[in-house]
Amino acid sequence: MFTSIQQDIEDVLIGENEILAKVNEMGQAISKDYKGSCPVIVGVLKGSGPLVADLLRRITIPVTVDFISVSSYGPATRSSGLVRFLKDLDFSIEGRHVLVMEDIIDTGLTLSYILRVLRGRYPASLEVGTLLDKQARRLIDIKLRYRGFDLPDRFVVGYGLDYAQRYRNLPFICALRPEVYS
Ligand code: PRP
Repeated sequence: MFTSIQQDIEDVLIGENEILAKVNEMGQAISKDYKGSCPVIVGVLKGSGPLVADLLRRITIPVTVDFISVSSYGPATRSSGLVRFLKDLDFSIEGRHVLVMEDIIDTGLTLSYILRVLRGRYPASLEVGTLLDKQARRLIDIKLRYRGFDLPDRFVVGYGLDYAQRYRNLPFICALRPEVYS
């Protein structure tokens, strides 16, 4: 399994079982916290795909799901927090309890832009969950309702996270060998 990818991996930081146990915990907490309110789970594509897919199946209350896709204007402008919506939500969130799920929060710039836009649409509440939190690189403070793992300031891939659009399909979070980047 993953034989052609295996050689690119330096080490596995968070294993598949550990991820699934954490996602299970998050699903239980969400089911308890949002009981009776049918929240909208909003996934931020593409990275949050695997997380949202697994999380949904661990939530035991009625929910709806929607996705947005955003793109930063590239590394030079990233620090300005300029983000473009490539795909907007399909449904209105007015009066709804909204939970935005991210695979990773790094500087926080992408999410802070997304939250600003969604807040302007009058949701009943707006909360954030992330599987990975790279706090060391945070430029904007973001209040997190659900948080999976702290991540060191290291470039990682897998479980939705990519390098050059690859490695998203790995079921664990790992670091790549430096040769892969050069
Ligand atoms: C990743 C991640 C967040 C963002 C976090 O997405 O899913 O949206 O970066 O970085 P920030 O906190 O520094 O803004 P990316 O732009 O890599 O797109 P992808 O999910 O399609 O891979």
